[in-house]
Amino acid sequence: MELLQWDDSFKVHLPQIDEQHERLIQLIRDLDDAVRDGTGGLLISYVMQELIRYVSLHFGDEERLMMEYGFKGLDEHRRKHASYITRLQEIMEQNSDGDALSTATLAFLKEWIVLHIKGADQEYGRFIRALLA
Ligand code: FEO
Repeated sequence: MELLQWDDSFKVHLPQIDEQHERLIQLIRDLDDAVRDGTGGLLISYVMQELIRYVSLHFGDEERLMMEYGFKGLDEHRRKHASYITRLQEIMEQNSDGDALSTATLAFLKEWIVLHIKGADQEYGRFIRALLA
């Protein structure tokens, strides 16, 4: 499985959001590294908690931004965010005993964020940038 790496193809071209996405990708990368290194469950739990905390903050900021600019796809986008948080919480509960995450779980976490940023996030990014132009 490939390591997740930030590059310009992730940009929505809204600086605050790009900064947050870069941090999110780094957190998932940290999780991946911890699993690969066999660092142990404690570190994995810590990174998972930080990922849930940060992703919640980020989703809230995005939803406020979409509301502020009257983006019509807000409700659908919000549902996508909520389902990812639910999945993260389930993963957290399933791994509360400090087990390493499975390859399939890691792949899900990575694929979801890549597809979401490059799909739904870039879509609202284009909408907002057109209003700002
Ligand atoms: Fe950047 Fe919609 O999450």
